Amino acid sequence: MPTEDRPRPLRVLVFGAALRAGSANARLASLVARLIADAGATVDHASLREFDMPLYDGDIETADGLPEGALALHGRLETSDAFVISSPEYNASVPGVLKNAVDWVSRVQPQPFKTKHALLVSASPSLMGGNRGLWALRIPLEHLGTRVYPDMFSLARAHEGFTEAGLLADPALQRRLTETVGAFLGLVEADTRYVCLRRRWYEFLGDATGAPVTQRAEG
Ligand SMILES: Cc1cc2nc3c(=O)[nH]c(=O)nc-3n(C[C@H](O)[C@H](O)[C@H](O)COP(=O)(O)O)c2cc1C
Repeated sequence: MPTEDRPRPLRVLVFGAALRAGSANARLASLVARLIADAGATVDHASLREFDMPLYDGDIETADGLPEGALALHGRLETSDAFVISSPEYNASVPGVLKNAVDWVSRVQPQPFKTKHALLVSASPSLMGGNRGLWALRIPLEHLGTRVYPDMFSLARAHEGFTEAGLLADPALQRRLTETVGAFLGLVEADTRYVCLRRRWYEFLGDATGAPVTQRAEG
C-alpha cells in the first residue's frame, strides 16, 4: 500500500491515576504504554499530576470557566482515539482525584468521553489488585458514553509484581496483559477505521440533544 494511503496509527492516551512518585499504577501505565507502542500505535503517555485542578466547584466554573488542568486533559483526550487509565483503588472505589478530573472534563461541551474507547487497569498490593475500583470507575465513564472495554486487568501484590526491566514478574500475567492490550487495540482499530454503525447516546444529562433526558438509544 502506498505510504499516503496507509491509515495513520491509532493514538492512545495512557495515564496513571495516582499522584505519588513511586506509584505502582504509574509503572503499570508505563508497561501498557510500551505494549501499545510495540503494537504500532502512537502513545501519549501522561500522569494525572500533569492535570492539576481544584476540587469541582460550580461557583469557580461560573466565575472562571474550566481550570487549565481540565482543559489540558480535554485537549489530550481530543487528540486520542482511545485512552487507558491505570488507577489505584481507594476504599473499594475510584480515587477522588480521578473522579474530580472526570467531573471537570465532563463539563466541556461536547464532552469528550462520549466518543472514546477506554481500557481500565489497576495495581494494588492487595490480593484483589484494585479490581473493585475499576468496576466503580466504569460507572461515570459508561454514563458519559465511553465504550469501556469489557475485559480489565488488575495486578495483585503489585509491590512484588514487576521485574527490574518493568515487565510483570509472572510470565503468564505478562502474556495476559499483552493479549488484553492487543485485543483492545483491535477493537479500537475496527471501530475507528471501519465504522458501519452510527451510535447515538442520549443519556448524558449535560448534552443538549433535544431528546427526552430519560431516553437512551443506539442506532
Ligand atoms: C485512602 C486509601 C485507600 C485505599 N484503599 C484500598 C482499597 O480499597 N483496596 C486496595 O487494594 N488498596 C487500597 N489502598 C492501598 C493502595 O492500593 C496502595 O496504596 C497502592 O499502592 C496505591 O496505588 P499507587 O501505588 O499507584 O499509588 C488504599 C490506599 C489509600 C491511600
